[in-house]
Amino acid sequence: MKSTVYPLTIFASLLVSTKATPVPVDVSSTSLKECGDQWYSPCSYTCRVGADSNALCPVVNGEAMDDCAGACYTPLCYSCNGTALAENPRKSSGTFTLTASNPDQAFDGQPIQAAGNHFWVGGHAATYCPSNVGSICNSFPNDTTIIGNGYMATVVPGGQEIYWQTDGALAFTQAHSISEFNLSYYGGGIAYEGGGYFGPNGEDLITCPVTPEGSNMTAWKLFARLVGVEFPGSCVGLYAVVHDQNITAGAWQYT
Ligand SMILES: *[C@@H]1O[C@H](CO)[C@@H](O)[C@H](O)[C@H]1NC(C)=O
Ligand SMILES: *[C@@H]1O[C@H](CO)[C@@H](O)[C@H](O)[C@H]1NC(C)=O
Ligand SMILES: *[C@@H]1O[C@H](CO)[C@@H](O)[C@H](O)[C@H]1NC(C)=O
Ligand SMILES: *[C@@H]1O[C@H](CO)[C@@H](O)[C@H](O)[C@H]1NC(C)=O
Ligand SMILES: *[C@@H]1O[C@H](CO)[C@@H](O)[C@H](O)[C@H]1NC(C)=O
Repeated sequence: MKSTVYPLTIFASLLVSTKATPVPVDVSSTSLKECGDQWYSPCSYTCRVGADSNALCPVVNGEAMDDCAGACYTPLCYSCNGTALAENPRKSSGTFTLTASNPDQAFDGQPIQAAGNHFWVGGHAATYCPSNVGSICNSFPNDTTIIGNGYMATVVPGGQEIYWQTDGALAFTQAHSISEFNLSYYGGGIAYEGGGYFGPNGEDLITCPVTPEGSNMTAWKLFARLVGVEFPGSCVGLYAVVHDQNITAGAWQYT
């Protein structure tokens, strides 16, 4: 098993050089714009006219990346002090919900929900509360998936762990079980204070339309772009945005 260690260097993969290949020049196309001496398509790049450069930054997951003295970045993970990028603080405690972000997609803003021991963009949280535990069952927010660093925010004895499967899917254990199927990485993703939620080594997230077992409707299943995993063209990238919560549990257990 690979351990969940996060060397900062791995985040270099999230940085994109602004010297990156600009889109091919077709000056006759009115859709292209000029940035310094480069032509670019506004749906793929954005022009950052900073003090130091006319830099192109790519549009990722429907959002223009910001420029930091020649490096492109998302503020969901990094901050720029004018000359250098620094990784934002990671959440060390507390619970949070996630929402999907990709302004180009209909699911933009939808909650990330837990169901079938996996995570989905939109839809409903699948939960269970045994009647013999009493009024605590009425204390949970309705239809809300709350997690912490590597665990589901539940009260069921033994808890429920979050892990990554070999196909990149984010998964969680069943109540009363420690079985982690097709395990790739222990623990959940990296959550940033006031920022985003990324894969076990800082990978970007992606969602694919799949038909869950026992259903006849497609739903958007959540994955991380783990090294070596290929995703069909029907999948789309997204950011997951972290929203801090005050409460310790969102359900007795998620199912
Ligand atoms: C930005 O951060 C870098 C690296 O930590 C540091 O060398 C530099 O002095 C900082 N610049 C400002 C303006 O704070
Ligand atoms: C709880 O959520 C379900 C699914 O969205 C909804 O049908 C139901 O009306 C909600 N119940 C309350 C009390 O808000
Ligand atoms: C494990 O992976 C195999 C092969 O991809 C798949 O058929 C199986 O359903 C997976 N099991 C679980 C519990 O996810
Ligand atoms: C899908 O499943 C639902 C509930 O089981 C059923 O009512 C519906 O007719 C099904 N739709 C199709 C297209 O099979
Ligand atoms: C957290 O609790 C405080 C005080 O009860 C409340 O004002 C605030 O809105 C809560 N925040 C969230 C995210 O629920």
